Amino acid sequence: MTKQKNDLTQKYSKGTIVIHWVTALLILTLFPLGKYMEDISLSEKMGLIKVHAILGVVVFILTLIRSYLFFKSKRPKDLETGSKFNDTLAVWIHNAFYILLIAISIAGIVTMFTGGYIDALQSGVSDLILSREDLMPLKAHGFLATIMIILLALHVLGVIKHYTLTKENTLKRMS
Ligand code: HEM
Repeated sequence: MTKQKNDLTQKYSKGTIVIHWVTALLILTLFPLGKYMEDISLSEKMGLIKVHAILGVVVFILTLIRSYLFFKSKRPKDLETGSKFNDTLAVWIHNAFYILLIAISIAGIVTMFTGGYIDALQSGVSDLILSREDLMPLKAHGFLATIMIILLALHVLGVIKHYTLTKENTLKRMS
Protein backbone atom coordinates (compact mmCIF):
# COMPACT_ATOMS: atom_id res chain seq x y z
CA MET A 1 0.00 0.00 0.00
CA THR A 2 1.40 3.46 -0.92
CA LYS A 3 2.07 6.20 1.62
CA GLN A 4 -0.69 8.79 1.29
CA LYS A 5 -0.31 12.54 1.36
CA ASN A 6 -3.63 13.90 2.61
CA ASP A 7 -3.78 17.57 3.52
CA LEU A 8 -3.97 17.45 7.33
CA THR A 9 -4.05 21.23 7.68
CA GLN A 10 -7.66 21.17 6.45
CA LYS A 11 -9.82 20.92 9.57
CA TYR A 12 -13.45 20.39 10.49
CA SER A 13 -15.31 23.43 11.86
CA LYS A 14 -14.92 24.31 15.57
CA GLY A 15 -18.56 23.35 16.27
CA THR A 16 -18.16 19.95 14.60
CA ILE A 17 -14.93 19.27 16.53
CA VAL A 18 -16.51 20.09 19.92
CA ILE A 19 -19.64 18.03 19.15
CA HIS A 20 -17.52 15.09 17.91
CA TRP A 21 -15.59 14.75 21.20
CA VAL A 22 -18.48 15.55 23.55
CA THR A 23 -20.65 12.98 21.72
CA ALA A 24 -17.88 10.36 21.86
CA LEU A 25 -17.61 10.83 25.62
CA LEU A 26 -21.38 10.69 26.09
CA ILE A 27 -21.73 7.52 23.97
CA LEU A 28 -18.99 5.83 25.99
CA THR A 29 -21.00 6.68 29.13
CA LEU A 30 -24.48 5.90 27.78
CA PHE A 31 -23.74 2.46 26.37
CA PRO A 32 -22.36 0.85 29.55
CA LEU A 33 -24.99 2.68 31.61
CA GLY A 34 -27.76 1.24 29.39
CA LYS A 35 -26.30 -2.26 29.63
CA TYR A 36 -25.97 -1.92 33.41
CA MET A 37 -29.63 -0.86 33.73
CA GLU A 38 -30.75 -4.06 31.98
CA ASP A 39 -29.78 -6.18 34.98
CA ILE A 40 -30.93 -4.16 37.99
CA SER A 41 -34.32 -4.00 39.73
CA LEU A 42 -36.94 -1.46 38.62
CA SER A 43 -36.65 0.56 41.84
CA GLU A 44 -32.85 0.81 41.50
CA LYS A 45 -33.28 1.88 37.88
CA MET A 46 -35.34 5.03 38.47
CA GLY A 47 -32.51 7.53 39.13
CA LEU A 48 -30.23 6.10 36.46
CA ILE A 49 -32.95 6.24 33.80
CA LYS A 50 -33.26 9.98 34.39
CA VAL A 51 -29.49 10.44 33.93
CA HIS A 52 -29.46 8.16 30.86
CA ALA A 53 -32.43 9.93 29.23
CA ILE A 54 -31.06 13.43 29.88
CA LEU A 55 -27.58 12.60 28.52
CA GLY A 56 -29.22 10.75 25.61
CA VAL A 57 -31.33 13.77 24.70
CA VAL A 58 -28.17 15.91 24.80
CA VAL A 59 -26.60 13.51 22.25
CA PHE A 60 -29.78 13.75 20.14
CA ILE A 61 -29.71 17.57 20.09
CA LEU A 62 -25.95 17.66 19.39
CA THR A 63 -26.43 15.19 16.51
CA LEU A 64 -29.17 17.36 14.98
CA ILE A 65 -26.86 20.40 15.20
CA ARG A 66 -24.00 18.38 13.74
CA SER A 67 -26.19 17.16 10.87
CA TYR A 68 -26.98 20.80 10.11
CA LEU A 69 -23.26 21.69 10.22
CA PHE A 70 -22.51 18.73 7.92
CA PHE A 71 -24.33 20.52 5.11
CA LYS A 72 -23.74 24.10 6.23
CA SER A 73 -20.05 24.42 7.17
CA LYS A 74 -16.99 23.70 5.05
CA ARG A 75 -15.58 20.20 5.52
CA PRO A 76 -12.14 18.83 4.69
CA LYS A 77 -11.89 16.50 1.69
CA ASP A 78 -12.53 12.79 2.40
CA LEU A 79 -9.32 10.98 3.38
CA GLU A 80 -7.59 8.83 0.82
CA THR A 81 -6.15 5.62 2.21
CA GLY A 82 -4.71 4.00 -0.90
CA SER A 83 -7.60 1.54 -1.08
CA LYS A 84 -10.88 2.46 -2.77
CA PHE A 85 -12.69 -0.03 -0.52
CA ASN A 86 -11.32 1.59 2.66
CA ASP A 87 -12.12 5.09 1.39
CA THR A 88 -15.75 4.14 0.78
CA LEU A 89 -16.01 2.19 4.05
CA ALA A 90 -14.79 5.21 6.06
CA VAL A 91 -17.36 7.52 4.45
CA TRP A 92 -20.18 5.02 5.05
CA ILE A 93 -19.21 4.49 8.68
CA HIS A 94 -19.17 8.27 9.22
CA ASN A 95 -22.60 8.65 7.62
CA ALA A 96 -24.00 5.69 9.54
CA PHE A 97 -23.17 7.40 12.86
CA TYR A 98 -25.59 10.24 12.10
CA ILE A 99 -28.41 7.89 11.09
CA LEU A 100 -27.83 5.49 14.01
CA LEU A 101 -27.59 8.22 16.65
CA ILE A 102 -30.85 9.78 15.47
CA ALA A 103 -32.59 6.38 15.31
CA ILE A 104 -31.25 5.29 18.74
CA SER A 105 -32.43 8.56 20.30
CA ILE A 106 -35.90 8.33 18.75
CA ALA A 107 -36.24 4.69 19.87
CA GLY A 108 -35.14 5.73 23.40
CA ILE A 109 -37.70 8.54 23.54
CA VAL A 110 -40.48 6.25 22.23
CA THR A 111 -39.48 3.66 24.87
CA MET A 112 -39.81 6.30 27.59
CA PHE A 113 -43.39 7.12 26.52
CA THR A 114 -44.71 3.68 25.55
CA GLY A 115 -42.85 1.67 28.20
CA GLY A 116 -44.34 3.39 31.22
CA TYR A 117 -41.04 5.12 32.10
CA ILE A 118 -42.51 8.64 32.02
CA ASP A 119 -45.46 7.55 34.22
CA ALA A 120 -43.09 5.78 36.61
CA LEU A 121 -40.81 8.84 36.93
CA GLN A 122 -43.78 11.20 37.43
CA SER A 123 -45.50 9.07 40.07
CA GLY A 124 -42.43 7.49 41.64
CA VAL A 125 -44.02 4.03 41.11
CA SER A 126 -41.33 1.95 39.40
CA ASP A 127 -43.71 -0.99 38.78
CA LEU A 128 -45.37 1.03 35.99
CA ILE A 129 -42.37 0.21 33.77
CA LEU A 130 -43.30 -2.58 31.31
CA SER A 131 -41.25 -5.73 30.92
CA ARG A 132 -38.49 -5.62 28.29
CA GLU A 133 -40.15 -8.53 26.45
CA ASP A 134 -43.18 -6.32 25.67
CA LEU A 135 -41.12 -3.40 24.45
CA MET A 136 -40.16 -3.51 20.75
CA PRO A 137 -38.75 0.07 20.77
CA LEU A 138 -36.38 -0.90 23.62
CA LYS A 139 -35.20 -3.98 21.73
CA ALA A 140 -34.56 -1.76 18.67
CA HIS A 141 -32.80 0.80 20.89
CA GLY A 142 -30.43 -1.84 22.32
CA PHE A 143 -29.80 -3.48 18.93
CA LEU A 144 -28.99 -0.21 17.14
CA ALA A 145 -26.77 0.90 20.06
CA THR A 146 -24.80 -2.37 19.74
CA ILE A 147 -24.33 -1.85 15.97
CA MET A 148 -23.15 1.68 16.67
CA ILE A 149 -20.56 0.47 19.21
CA ILE A 150 -19.22 -2.03 16.65
CA LEU A 151 -18.90 0.78 14.09
CA LEU A 152 -17.23 2.93 16.74
CA ALA A 153 -14.61 0.21 17.25
CA LEU A 154 -14.05 0.03 13.46
CA HIS A 155 -13.83 3.83 13.35
CA VAL A 156 -11.04 3.85 15.98
CA LEU A 157 -9.28 0.91 14.29
CA GLY A 158 -9.43 2.84 11.01
CA VAL A 159 -7.62 5.82 12.57
CA ILE A 160 -4.93 3.51 14.03
CA LYS A 161 -4.55 1.53 10.80
CA HIS A 162 -4.25 4.69 8.73
CA TYR A 163 -1.58 6.02 11.08
CA THR A 164 0.36 2.74 11.05
CA LEU A 165 0.39 2.54 7.27
CA THR A 166 0.96 6.19 6.36
CA LYS A 167 2.24 7.90 9.54
CA GLU A 168 -0.52 10.49 8.95
CA ASN A 169 -2.19 11.59 12.19
CA THR A 170 -5.71 12.15 10.86
CA LEU A 171 -6.89 13.28 14.32
CA LYS A 172 -5.31 16.65 13.50
CA ARG A 173 -8.33 17.32 11.30
CA MET A 174 -10.64 16.77 14.28
CA SER A 175 -8.72 18.80 16.89
C1 HEM B 1 -27.80 8.21 21.84
C2 HEM B 1 -27.15 7.52 22.70
C3 HEM B 1 -27.71 6.37 23.50
C4 HEM B 1 -27.08 5.18 23.70
C5 HEM B 1 -25.71 4.76 23.14
C6 HEM B 1 -27.97 4.36 24.50
C7 HEM B 1 -27.68 3.06 24.91
C8 HEM B 1 -28.55 2.22 25.60
C9 HEM B 1 -28.34 0.81 25.84
C10 HEM B 1 -27.14 -0.01 25.38
C11 HEM B 1 -29.43 0.36 26.54
C12 HEM B 1 -29.69 -1.10 26.97
C13 HEM B 1 -30.60 -1.65 25.86
C14 HEM B 1 -31.12 -3.03 26.06
O1 HEM B 1 -31.81 -3.27 27.07
O2 HEM B 1 -30.89 -3.86 25.17
C15 HEM B 1 -30.31 1.48 26.77
C16 HEM B 1 -31.50 1.43 27.48
C17 HEM B 1 -32.40 2.46 27.59
N1 HEM B 1 -32.27 3.73 27.05
FE1 HEM B 1 -30.70 4.40 25.96
N2 HEM B 1 -29.12 5.07 24.80
C18 HEM B 1 -29.01 6.32 24.20
C19 HEM B 1 -29.97 7.33 24.22
C20 HEM B 1 -31.19 7.28 24.88
C21 HEM B 1 -32.22 8.31 24.85
C22 HEM B 1 -32.16 9.61 24.06
C23 HEM B 1 -33.24 7.88 25.65
C24 HEM B 1 -34.56 8.54 25.99
C25 HEM B 1 -34.72 9.83 26.13
C26 HEM B 1 -32.88 6.55 26.16
C27 HEM B 1 -33.67 5.77 26.97
C28 HEM B 1 -33.40 4.48 27.36
C29 HEM B 1 -34.29 3.66 28.17
C30 HEM B 1 -35.65 4.07 28.72
C31 HEM B 1 -33.66 2.41 28.33
C32 HEM B 1 -34.19 1.20 29.10
C33 HEM B 1 -33.55 1.06 30.45
C34 HEM B 1 -34.03 -0.22 31.12
O3 HEM B 1 -35.21 -0.27 31.47
O4 HEM B 1 -33.22 -1.14 31.31
N3 HEM B 1 -31.63 6.21 25.65
N4 HEM B 1 -29.77 2.59 26.16
